[in-house]
Amino acid sequence: MARKIAFVNYKGGVGKTSLIVNVAACLAQRGKRVLLFDFDTQSNASIWLLKLERWNRINAGGTGSFFSIYDPGTARVKDCIIRDVVEGKEGQKLLPGLDLVPTTFNLVDLEGEYKPDPKRPTFALFADQLAEVEGSYDFILFDCPPNILRASQNGLFVANEIYVPANPDALSLIGFTLLIEKLLRFQQTSASFRTAAMGPAAQVYGVVFNSIKVNVDIEVPKMRMQLRLNQFKAQKRAVAPTAKIFDTQIRDAMIVRRAVTLGLPVFLVGTEGAEADSVANDYRRLVTEMIEHAPAR
Ligand SMILES: Nc1ncnc2c1ncn2[C@@H]1O[C@H](COP(=O)(O)OP(=O)(O)O)[C@@H](O)[C@H]1O
Ligand SMILES: [Mg+2]
Repeated sequence: MARKIAFVNYKGGVGKTSLIVNVAACLAQRGKRVLLFDFDTQSNASIWLLKLERWNRINAGGTGSFFSIYDPGTARVKDCIIRDVVEGKEGQKLLPGLDLVPTTFNLVDLEGEYKPDPKRPTFALFADQLAEVEGSYDFILFDCPPNILRASQNGLFVANEIYVPANPDALSLIGFTLLIEKLLRFQQTSASFRTAAMGPAAQVYGVVFNSIKVNVDIEVPKMRMQLRLNQFKAQKRAVAPTAKIFDTQIRDAMIVRRAVTLGLPVFLVGTEGAEADSVANDYRRLVTEMIEHAPAR
């Protein structure tokens, strides 16, 4: 069974997309079969992995983007998967095993104009379609916007694990607290749509600190986050008993920003010296920790 993990925090700009793109790429590099869903209308993960030109073509036509499973409803999830998405300049496949379901700007209509069937919410429809492709993957990852509106609900409904990217600041902690509150509410209202095959409802398993500057001590924000995590654990509020702050933290490195422009995961950007190697190794270490930190089945 695929591990299904949503990366979410009720705070933007903490590094959800950068983490998920690089984690997905490192997993694929290790031979895992990975499917990444982009649920953020801003389309950052899609533009990153497809590069602007390929993404523009999908954005112009709208077909093949995630929203087409709802509107016009002719495509299914399986039709939207772009296999081995990372390509070089001549279209050569650089990272076999990393597949993407891209989004385009039309996803914003899911939150507004779109009128779902009142008896069958959008996340339930998505869950049915995901079941058709799930067996082909080891990891299915969901890049969520900083909210729990319809697009995110898809990921949070089907995922069993939640990872919370955080920066060492008060706003990330507030974002985490708000996330738990909204998640619990969503889980109450969606519970009747769950099936036994889906496994347990999503719980937080990990907090990942991102964009950490060298020589900056983050013990205090880490301690505050740990306290909050413990509190939610004790209250059994959507935090798994084994949830932890990951030992691996991702350093702040210019190359992460550059990698977006180049349309590549960090480790494929090329030999950029020590900084690139070290942040690429942070992502690799994080992936090793993720593989070891699997929930008991
Ligand atoms: N480790 C890092 N070092 C430097 N910049 C980073 C790092 N991680 C993310 N960023 C930058 O921070 C900004 C927000 O990151 P992003 O992944 O888009 O966050 P989110 O998805 O949470 O909104 C982007 O400009 C990104 O390039
Ligand atoms: Mg993002």
